[in-house]
Amino acid sequence: MAVPIRIPDAPAPPRTDEAMRAAVRESLEQARRRTLALTDCLGADELGAQHSPLMSPLVWDLAHVGNQEEIWLVRTAGGEAALRPDLDSLYDAFQQPRAERPELPLLTPPQARRYIAAVRERALDVLLKAPLGPDQDPLLANGFVFGMIAQHEQQHDETMLATHQLRRGPAVLHAPRPEPAPADAADLPSEAWIPGGPFTMGTDDEPWALDNERPAHRVEVPGFWLDTVPLSNRAFQEFMADGGYQDPRWWSPEGWAHRVEAGLHAPLFWQRGAGPEATEGDWLRRRFGVLEPVPPDEPVLHVCWYEADAYARWAGRRLPTEAEWEKAARHDPATGRSRRYPWGDQDPTPLLADLGQRHLQPAPAGAYPDGASPYGVRQLIGGVWEWTASDFAPYPGFAAFPYKEYSEVFFGPNYKVLRGGAFSVAEVACRSTFRNWDYPIRRQIFAGFRTARDPRPGEGR
Ligand code: AVJ
Ligand code: FE
Repeated sequence: MAVPIRIPDAPAPPRTDEAMRAAVRESLEQARRRTLALTDCLGADELGAQHSPLMSPLVWDLAHVGNQEEIWLVRTAGGEAALRPDLDSLYDAFQQPRAERPELPLLTPPQARRYIAAVRERALDVLLKAPLGPDQDPLLANGFVFGMIAQHEQQHDETMLATHQLRRGPAVLHAPRPEPAPADAADLPSEAWIPGGPFTMGTDDEPWALDNERPAHRVEVPGFWLDTVPLSNRAFQEFMADGGYQDPRWWSPEGWAHRVEAGLHAPLFWQRGAGPEATEGDWLRRRFGVLEPVPPDEPVLHVCWYEADAYARWAGRRLPTEAEWEKAARHDPATGRSRRYPWGDQDPTPLLADLGQRHLQPAPAGAYPDGASPYGVRQLIGGVWEWTASDFAPYPGFAAFPYKEYSEVFFGPNYKVLRGGAFSVAEVACRSTFRNWDYPIRRQIFAGFRTARDPRPGEGR
């Protein structure tokens, strides 16, 4: 009888129980420092205002992260009594449509800060005594539910950063500029060949991977070419200068209808600089309250899926599928194994990837040579989210865990998958298996893209 062979996709480094608890605590504390930095810089009026109909008031996000922490860490993992059961419905994303959140009787900023601090104190008590061994209930095993809540808070920190970007008014966030691109960035080959063959997509082994990243499964990916770096503003401006926004040939029918209706003519937050006419001058962009020239070497940001798709068609190319993207980011041709990150199995560091809101813009295309994949593809992790061609769908064998409203209710053709994380994303919420999703019209997220193509006859290896 054939013995089934299980190929581990990426064994996580073994950790002692004590080291794991310390890592959990640090992840929660890191998320909280970010949350407070994003909300301490504004007064109560601005925290309660809705800066865009797409976003919640920041004070809603602030208490929502605490309410989720209360539900999952204090009540579910800890089995403790509720602190504020009266808040559950106010801060439930499904019960409260975004547009109505500003009218709700929300906690004031000082009340919200006190609430989330009280929850955190109880959650850290739970962390001290919860059994977190690998053989525990899957909610607790390897600290999963704590990791889930740290990721959840960081995801809202990214959402809050997007709210800051939409907000009008003088800058309140400040961070150093990214390093210039390394000298070799200008000479990189424009595309890398990813050879055909099966690879392991998704994971069983990554302890804090969320339900939609599971289970690991083998996928056959034919050979294809992938851009070595994310698409730059310079390249996107060539499409614009060539009339790309005016030519329906490059757009899908839905994309064209949306382009016309929404009047899209440039990435979100771009405007023309001073010229004799409103349509002249160089392109400027508004970035966290500062108007500045569009940097040509930076990855294009704040384009929707339809714009990315139109660019790719204009260039004679296409967006990569999600499987192609993940193979390029994880497959190790030397061993045949899928790794945790393009550079290997070790956690991200500031030298490997542009993550963690260390900067308030992505590093130039071609940066982070140490984070390249074995195929020589750079910046797959961090920088800008990358739109893929794929709809958000469950992997074969998917099981909702621990709640259907994280992923399952969003599966289907309405959402496109984004991969790789961005400068706005925390390390704990970013892996080569991590799947993000949004509507194809969305532009306020920190998304750009890279393109792919099939081999021409004779090119396949
Ligand atoms: C995975 C980013 C699409 O923000 O809607 C936050 C993450 N889920 N709270 C979102 C999430 C519940 C989610 N995304
Ligand atoms: Fe949430």
